[in-house]
Amino acid sequence: MSELEILKYPNRQLTKPCPPVINIDGRLQGQIDQMFKTLYVSQGLGLAAPQVGCLQSFFIYDLGLQEKKTSHAHERIVVLNPEIVEMEGEEIADEGCLSIPGYFEKINRAYRVLMKGLDREGKEIRIEAEGLTARLFQHEIDHLKGVLMLSHLSRLKRDMFLRKFKKQKKQAALK
Ligand code: NI
Repeated sequence: MSELEILKYPNRQLTKPCPPVINIDGRLQGQIDQMFKTLYVSQGLGLAAPQVGCLQSFFIYDLGLQEKKTSHAHERIVVLNPEIVEMEGEEIADEGCLSIPGYFEKINRAYRVLMKGLDREGKEIRIEAEGLTARLFQHEIDHLKGVLMLSHLSRLKRDMFLRKFKKQKKQAALK
């Protein structure tokens, strides 16, 4: 089983909203397994289906991959058709995205969320989370709506990102 290519900004696939998962079949399970392989190779915490070109509303995550592995063992979690049903509080913290490699910026997110969805067998799940995990849920669900973390930046920071991005692109073209 090979890993999948992660689409990078500014790929337009990343800006398309994903329709819900309808068929929970072998093909979907294969896609999920390939996404976990891709997540482990790239050392991210979470990966949304559209990031690998699959326009379906689901994401995967494994908090065992975070740097300070104090409280989380490896646990492969899949959430199909996720939806945040409650959120409260705010927290500003660094955030990154596998589709925008090397870029980290402080983003304001709800501190605590309640998310519902389906597991990979189609069973209903509800997960309450705070801090980093709540942030991850909001980030991945944004991907499913075609929204990147750049949308949460102030205009000034977004302009700075775009300038830096254009410059890097130009330098890469010259090589
Ligand atoms: Ni991302």
